[in-house]
Amino acid sequence: MACQRSTTEVRSTLVVGNWKMNLLRNEALDLVAELGRLGAVANELVDVVICPPFTALTSLADHGMHGIKLGAQNCHFSQKGAYTGEVSAEMLCDVGCSYVIIGHSERRRDYNETDAEIGRKAHHALQVGLRPIICVGELLEERQSGKTLEVLFRQIDEIVETAGADVVSKSVIAYEPVWAIGTGLAATSAQVQDVHAAIRAHLEEITVSGAVPILYGGSVTAANAAGLFSCQDVDGALVGGASLKAQEFAQIVHEARQRTR
Ligand code: PGA
Repeated sequence: MACQRSTTEVRSTLVVGNWKMNLLRNEALDLVAELGRLGAVANELVDVVICPPFTALTSLADHGMHGIKLGAQNCHFSQKGAYTGEVSAEMLCDVGCSYVIIGHSERRRDYNETDAEIGRKAHHALQVGLRPIICVGELLEERQSGKTLEVLFRQIDEIVETAGADVVSKSVIAYEPVWAIGTGLAATSAQVQDVHAAIRAHLEEITVSGAVPILYGGSVTAANAAGLFSCQDVDGALVGGASLKAQEFAQIVHEARQRTR
């Protein structure tokens, strides 16, 4: 279902592909080349970012990205030091990243990342010139018990408390209901619009800029992208599974272009 959006206040759209732990370097290069051939690249109104595994970043940066920007899927909150297995925000800048996903629900679930840590990561990432894409989202049982906004506001408040309103104002927020990630059960456009509008109002209340781009993530496909992009408060998408398929991702970028025409 499409929802209302006014044509007079069109913000630019951001389409981000989160490849998660997929693709070897050659496969990554092939996919980006294919996206280039399909024209799934940025223009003045649509920014396209892909977030491959760390191991593919250098190869992609070195081989040219066809106007697609590079992001990472995580970073550490410290500049450097004895953090075995971690990667710093500076290292990501060094290999050509301009974005970093922070606080994805898979990291919250599997590595117990807290909102305070997420805030520290966002703060540090922005300091070194990476734009954080900060993920928030509710569990199925939280939605079913009517706690969606309470949970989201709690996550946002704690991140803002740690990172500062200024940092969050310069970041991107991704609303990713946990029950919609990788399940094929995307939230409806109406559900997404309601939550995004509430998040935007809450951000303004706590002195974060209401102009922060708010992306939706969770089973975004070529088939549901147009409906999602038609929502007034949806500024783009964070795409997991569908970003690994060139045609599908290219179609999502195409739908984003239609939105901002
Ligand atoms: P999905 O993943 O599109 O496969 O649901 C989204 C995400 O995890 O960011």
